[in-house]
Amino acid sequence: MNPIIAPSLLSADFAHLSDEMEMLNRSEADWIHLDVMDGVFVPNISFGFPILKYVADLTLKPLDVHLMIVQPEKFIAEVKALGTHTMNVHYEACPHLHRVVQQIREAGMQPAVTINPATPVSMLSDIIRDVYMVLIMSVNPGFGGQRFIEHTLEKVRQLRQLIEQTGSKALIEVDGGVNLETGALLLKAGADVLVAGSAVFHAPNPTAAIHALKRL
Ligand code: DX5
Ligand code: ZN
Repeated sequence: MNPIIAPSLLSADFAHLSDEMEMLNRSEADWIHLDVMDGVFVPNISFGFPILKYVADLTLKPLDVHLMIVQPEKFIAEVKALGTHTMNVHYEACPHLHRVVQQIREAGMQPAVTINPATPVSMLSDIIRDVYMVLIMSVNPGFGGQRFIEHTLEKVRQLRQLIEQTGSKALIEVDGGVNLETGALLLKAGADVLVAGSAVFHAPNPTAAIHALKRL
Protein backbone atom coordinates (compact mmCIF):
# COMPACT_ATOMS: atom_id res chain seq x y z
CA MET A 1 0.00 0.00 0.00
CA ASN A 2 1.25 3.50 -0.79
CA PRO A 3 2.24 5.60 2.21
CA ILE A 4 0.29 8.65 3.32
CA ILE A 5 2.43 11.69 2.47
CA ALA A 6 2.17 14.82 4.61
CA PRO A 7 4.42 17.68 3.41
CA SER A 8 5.44 19.95 6.28
CA LEU A 9 4.74 23.58 5.43
CA LEU A 10 7.54 24.74 7.75
CA SER A 11 10.02 24.55 4.86
CA ALA A 12 7.75 26.34 2.37
CA ASP A 13 8.46 29.77 0.87
CA PHE A 14 6.26 32.01 3.04
CA ALA A 15 6.69 34.94 0.67
CA HIS A 16 4.74 32.87 -1.87
CA LEU A 17 2.48 30.90 0.41
CA SER A 18 -0.54 30.90 -1.90
CA ASP A 19 1.62 29.44 -4.73
CA GLU A 20 2.91 26.77 -2.34
CA MET A 21 -0.67 25.94 -1.34
CA GLU A 22 -1.71 25.67 -4.96
CA MET A 23 1.22 23.34 -5.64
CA LEU A 24 0.19 21.15 -2.68
CA ASN A 25 -3.46 21.13 -3.74
CA ARG A 26 -2.51 19.89 -7.21
CA SER A 27 0.05 17.39 -5.91
CA GLU A 28 -0.35 13.84 -4.64
CA ALA A 29 0.10 15.03 -1.04
CA ASP A 30 -2.48 13.35 1.16
CA TRP A 31 -2.40 15.76 4.10
CA ILE A 32 -0.77 19.09 4.96
CA HIS A 33 1.42 18.93 8.08
CA LEU A 34 1.45 22.16 10.10
CA ASP A 35 4.10 22.72 12.79
CA VAL A 36 3.09 25.06 15.59
CA MET A 37 5.86 26.05 18.05
CA ASP A 38 5.73 28.19 21.17
CA GLY A 39 9.36 28.89 22.08
CA VAL A 40 8.77 27.07 25.39
CA PHE A 41 8.21 23.40 24.60
CA VAL A 42 10.70 23.73 21.73
CA PRO A 43 13.47 26.33 21.27
CA ASN A 44 11.81 27.99 18.28
CA ILE A 45 8.63 29.81 17.24
CA SER A 46 6.94 29.08 13.91
CA PHE A 47 3.48 30.40 13.05
CA GLY A 48 0.17 30.84 14.81
CA PHE A 49 -3.54 31.08 14.06
CA PRO A 50 -3.53 33.96 11.51
CA ILE A 51 -1.29 31.91 9.18
CA LEU A 52 -3.07 28.65 10.02
CA LYS A 53 -6.45 30.22 9.08
CA TYR A 54 -5.03 31.39 5.77
CA VAL A 55 -3.70 27.89 5.04
CA ALA A 56 -6.98 26.29 6.15
CA ASP A 57 -8.90 28.52 3.74
CA LEU A 58 -6.65 27.62 0.81
CA THR A 59 -6.15 23.89 1.34
CA LEU A 60 -8.08 21.12 -0.38
CA LYS A 61 -6.28 18.52 1.76
CA PRO A 62 -6.89 17.41 5.36
CA LEU A 63 -4.83 19.26 7.98
CA ASP A 64 -2.43 17.39 10.25
CA VAL A 65 -1.64 19.89 13.02
CA HIS A 66 1.49 19.15 15.07
CA LEU A 67 1.46 21.23 18.25
CA MET A 68 4.94 21.62 19.75
CA ILE A 69 3.53 23.68 22.60
CA VAL A 70 2.87 23.37 26.31
CA GLN A 71 -0.76 22.97 27.38
CA PRO A 72 -2.08 22.16 23.88
CA GLU A 73 -5.52 21.44 25.40
CA LYS A 74 -6.03 25.21 25.70
CA PHE A 75 -6.35 25.45 21.92
CA ILE A 76 -8.60 22.50 21.04
CA ALA A 77 -11.50 24.75 19.98
CA GLU A 78 -9.26 26.99 17.84
CA VAL A 79 -7.60 24.01 16.18
CA LYS A 80 -11.00 22.46 15.50
CA ALA A 81 -12.23 25.74 13.98
CA LEU A 82 -9.57 25.38 11.27
CA GLY A 83 -11.30 22.21 10.08
CA THR A 84 -8.40 20.11 11.37
CA HIS A 85 -8.39 16.37 10.66
CA THR A 86 -5.65 15.25 13.06
CA MET A 87 -4.52 17.10 16.17
CA ASN A 88 -1.07 15.95 17.33
CA VAL A 89 -0.07 16.69 20.92
CA HIS A 90 3.21 15.76 22.54
CA TYR A 91 3.31 13.04 25.19
CA GLU A 92 5.95 15.17 26.99
CA ALA A 93 3.64 18.22 27.08
CA CYS A 94 0.57 16.48 28.55
CA PRO A 95 0.59 15.21 32.14
CA HIS A 96 -3.10 14.32 31.65
CA LEU A 97 -2.72 12.85 28.19
CA HIS A 98 -5.72 10.53 28.45
CA ARG A 99 -8.02 13.48 29.17
CA VAL A 100 -6.56 15.54 26.31
CA VAL A 101 -7.01 12.65 23.86
CA GLN A 102 -10.68 12.30 24.89
CA GLN A 103 -11.20 16.07 24.55
CA ILE A 104 -9.74 16.07 21.03
CA ARG A 105 -12.03 13.19 20.03
CA GLU A 106 -15.07 14.86 21.62
CA ALA A 107 -14.27 18.01 19.64
CA GLY A 108 -14.59 15.94 16.46
CA MET A 109 -10.92 15.56 15.50
CA GLN A 110 -8.65 12.53 15.29
CA PRO A 111 -6.28 12.45 18.29
CA ALA A 112 -2.59 11.75 17.71
CA VAL A 113 0.20 11.51 20.26
CA THR A 114 3.75 12.54 19.40
CA ILE A 115 6.89 11.24 21.13
CA ASN A 116 10.30 12.88 21.17
CA PRO A 117 13.47 10.93 20.29
CA ALA A 118 14.27 10.26 23.98
CA THR A 119 10.78 9.00 24.86
CA PRO A 120 10.45 5.22 24.63
CA VAL A 121 7.60 3.61 22.68
CA SER A 122 6.68 1.62 25.82
CA MET A 123 5.31 4.82 27.41
CA LEU A 124 2.39 4.55 24.97
CA SER A 125 1.12 1.15 26.08
CA ASP A 126 -1.79 2.58 28.11
CA ILE A 127 -2.95 5.07 25.47
CA ILE A 128 -2.34 3.18 22.21
CA ARG A 129 -5.94 1.92 21.90
CA ASP A 130 -7.33 5.45 22.26
CA VAL A 131 -5.39 7.23 19.54
CA TYR A 132 -5.87 7.51 15.80
CA MET A 133 -2.13 7.89 15.23
CA VAL A 134 1.27 8.01 16.91
CA LEU A 135 3.84 10.46 15.56
CA ILE A 136 7.42 9.37 16.21
CA MET A 137 9.86 12.27 16.01
CA SER A 138 12.98 11.25 14.10
CA VAL A 139 14.70 14.55 15.01
CA ASN A 140 14.43 16.72 18.09
CA PRO A 141 11.45 18.96 17.35
CA GLY A 142 11.82 22.65 16.62
CA PHE A 143 13.57 22.93 13.26
CA GLY A 144 13.37 21.64 9.71
CA GLY A 145 16.36 20.25 7.83
CA GLN A 146 17.88 18.16 10.63
CA ARG A 147 19.55 14.79 10.30
CA PHE A 148 17.43 11.66 10.70
CA ILE A 149 18.08 9.75 13.95
CA GLU A 150 18.69 6.11 12.94
CA HIS A 151 17.29 4.66 16.18
CA THR A 152 13.84 5.77 14.95
CA LEU A 153 13.72 2.66 12.77
CA GLU A 154 13.88 0.46 15.86
CA LYS A 155 11.15 2.55 17.51
CA VAL A 156 8.88 2.12 14.48
CA ARG A 157 9.36 -1.65 14.69
CA GLN A 158 8.59 -1.59 18.42
CA LEU A 159 5.47 0.51 17.85
CA ARG A 160 4.27 -1.81 15.09
CA GLN A 161 4.64 -4.69 17.56
CA LEU A 162 2.76 -2.80 20.30
CA ILE A 163 -0.07 -2.04 17.86
CA GLU A 164 -0.33 -5.69 16.83
CA GLN A 165 -0.20 -6.94 20.42
CA THR A 166 -2.93 -4.60 21.62
CA GLY A 167 -5.24 -4.72 18.61
CA SER A 168 -4.90 -0.94 18.23
CA LYS A 169 -5.66 0.53 14.82
CA ALA A 170 -3.26 3.47 15.27
CA LEU A 171 -1.35 4.74 12.26
CA ILE A 172 2.40 5.28 12.58
CA GLU A 173 3.64 8.67 11.38
CA VAL A 174 7.29 9.75 11.31
CA ASP A 175 8.56 13.34 11.20
CA GLY A 176 12.08 14.71 10.72
CA GLY A 177 14.81 14.09 8.17
CA VAL A 178 12.49 12.06 5.96
CA ASN A 179 13.62 11.73 2.35
CA LEU A 180 13.51 8.98 -0.27
CA GLU A 181 16.24 7.00 1.44
CA THR A 182 15.05 7.23 5.07
CA GLY A 183 11.42 7.06 3.90
CA ALA A 184 12.01 3.66 2.28
CA LEU A 185 13.61 2.34 5.48
CA LEU A 186 10.74 3.71 7.60
CA LEU A 187 8.10 2.04 5.45
CA LYS A 188 9.97 -1.24 5.65
CA ALA A 189 10.02 -0.87 9.45
CA GLY A 190 6.25 -0.39 9.49
CA ALA A 191 5.47 3.33 9.13
CA ASP A 192 2.20 4.44 7.47
CA VAL A 193 2.60 8.23 7.21
CA LEU A 194 5.69 10.19 6.15
CA VAL A 195 6.09 13.88 6.99
CA ALA A 196 8.62 15.66 4.80
CA GLY A 197 9.60 19.32 4.92
CA SER A 198 12.91 20.09 3.24
CA ALA A 199 12.80 16.94 1.08
CA VAL A 200 9.71 18.43 -0.58
CA PHE A 201 10.07 22.21 -0.49
CA HIS A 202 13.83 22.39 -1.11
CA ALA A 203 13.63 19.93 -4.00
CA PRO A 204 14.04 21.36 -7.51
CA ASN A 205 10.54 20.08 -8.28
CA PRO A 206 8.40 19.72 -5.13
CA THR A 207 5.51 18.09 -7.02
CA ALA A 208 7.87 15.41 -8.35
CA ALA A 209 9.36 14.96 -4.87
CA ILE A 210 5.89 14.29 -3.44
CA HIS A 211 5.17 11.89 -6.31
CA ALA A 212 8.40 9.98 -5.62
CA LEU A 213 7.65 9.71 -1.88
CA LYS A 214 4.14 8.49 -2.66
CA ARG A 215 5.60 5.74 -4.90
CA LEU A 216 7.99 4.40 -2.21
C1 DX5 B 1 10.29 19.66 13.22
C2 DX5 B 1 8.94 19.57 12.57
C3 DX5 B 1 8.96 18.90 11.26
C4 DX5 B 1 9.82 19.57 10.21
C5 DX5 B 1 10.42 18.48 9.39
O1 DX5 B 1 10.15 20.08 14.52
O2 DX5 B 1 8.03 18.85 13.40
O3 DX5 B 1 7.64 18.68 10.76
O4 DX5 B 1 9.14 20.47 9.38
O5 DX5 B 1 11.33 19.03 8.51
P1 DX5 B 1 12.34 18.13 7.69
O6 DX5 B 1 11.50 17.18 6.88
O7 DX5 B 1 13.09 19.11 6.88
O8 DX5 B 1 13.19 17.39 8.70
ZN1 ZN C 1 6.04 18.23 12.53
